[in-house]
Amino acid sequence: MSGVRGSVLHATGRLIGMGPQAHVVLEGASQGIVQIEGPHDSKGQDLLDAACHLLGEKLRGESEKNVLAGDILGKLQELSVFYEASDALANAHDLHAVGQQVLSHAAQVIGFDWGGFVAYDSERSQARIVAVIGDPEGAPRTWRPVEPDSFTWLSLNAEEPVLLPEFSESERQRLRREIGPRAENAGSLLAIPTLSASCPVGVVLLVKRRGRPAFTSADAKLAGALATQAGVSVGHIQLHEGAKEMFFSTVWALASAVDAKDAYTHGHSQRVARYAGQLGRALGFDDDEIERLELSAVLHDVGKIGVPEAILNKPDRLTVAEMSVMKSHPEKGAEILSSIRAMRDIVPGVLHHHERYDGMGYPRGLKGENIPLQARIIVLADTYDAMTSTRPYRNALPSGIALDEVRRCTASQFDPRLAEVFAELIERGIIRPVEGPVVPSGRGGARS
Ligand SMILES: [Fe+2]
Repeated sequence: MSGVRGSVLHATGRLIGMGPQAHVVLEGASQGIVQIEGPHDSKGQDLLDAACHLLGEKLRGESEKNVLAGDILGKLQELSVFYEASDALANAHDLHAVGQQVLSHAAQVIGFDWGGFVAYDSERSQARIVAVIGDPEGAPRTWRPVEPDSFTWLSLNAEEPVLLPEFSESERQRLRREIGPRAENAGSLLAIPTLSASCPVGVVLLVKRRGRPAFTSADAKLAGALATQAGVSVGHIQLHEGAKEMFFSTVWALASAVDAKDAYTHGHSQRVARYAGQLGRALGFDDDEIERLELSAVLHDVGKIGVPEAILNKPDRLTVAEMSVMKSHPEKGAEILSSIRAMRDIVPGVLHHHERYDGMGYPRGLKGENIPLQARIIVLADTYDAMTSTRPYRNALPSGIALDEVRRCTASQFDPRLAEVFAELIERGIIRPVEGPVVPSGRGGARS
């Protein structure tokens, strides 16, 4: 087009003069008009048409490149979300954290107004919402049977995503029973099953309100990828929980076996763990610290495995030699537990639970705060249980008398600061004598 003066105007622009003009077309739509000044003949028009065609082709190439770049960028953003999600999910230690991570990452790649992660217990056929993004008001959080017409059930049963682009009134009512009042305004829904080793463990429920574009199959694919990662994470948590449960059951059985050797200490170790845990909680221990404390407390007498029953159950006064064997149980216990890596943190409580604050205890005669904290707590719990349970030589003392004894022995036997907190817990009725063995209910097995 050299030697030709021209202008490119927008399709709605004002044309100049009366020269030849032609549209630049991209994907069937005019992007603008080119007009040149000069005689309006067929040669000029043909030349202009050819030039505009070339211009359209050029634009199409650029446009495809831009679309391609946009696609790649979009995929990169999705991949980075999945990458972050896999990291976050690997560190999730419970179902709530898994649900929270899945939903927050889904929110970055899929637009939705309400999202919930429903945990599913296949053994009991029950489900409960463990995490919500959006308005959590009214979402049922307790374990409930899965209703056969619920969207949770539909997706679990189909083992593939359920995509509902619009709602009938009856479907909305069904969703209301499932997620609460947020269903009233629901316009479309995605329900993605989460599987672990082919076993259903949960559902990701995403809802868009009325008036917004419905979920697409592309959304279902993205949510499905996140749900797959969540399934792996839930599988790890279940394995971990299973191993932990087995560990604590074994510890519990071991403590019971120790108590069973002594005719008068049935349930003693478990009660000591309970009282120690209650004191630890009052002192502000976190869950992991409570867990270690309760473990140490429930196994404090494990060394009695090595003490003959004739000594443990002797109704008369022990001889000096027998007393020496009896007093070896903290060291025997520490020796047994030191060989187990997972138990090393609890050895100090076991080894030193017969030390006294005034330094007159055993096996090391440690004094004051040189005695490990675990042991200073266990000695209070141990003594309190010994006083409030029946022994061969006396009946159980009332809690009030035990309280007086705790106060009387403050600073000689017990750490004064801990004894005061312990005494307050007795006065407030939080710590009170428990009959028989305590039923395990928490991570450390001694939670009330
Ligand atoms: Fe002991």
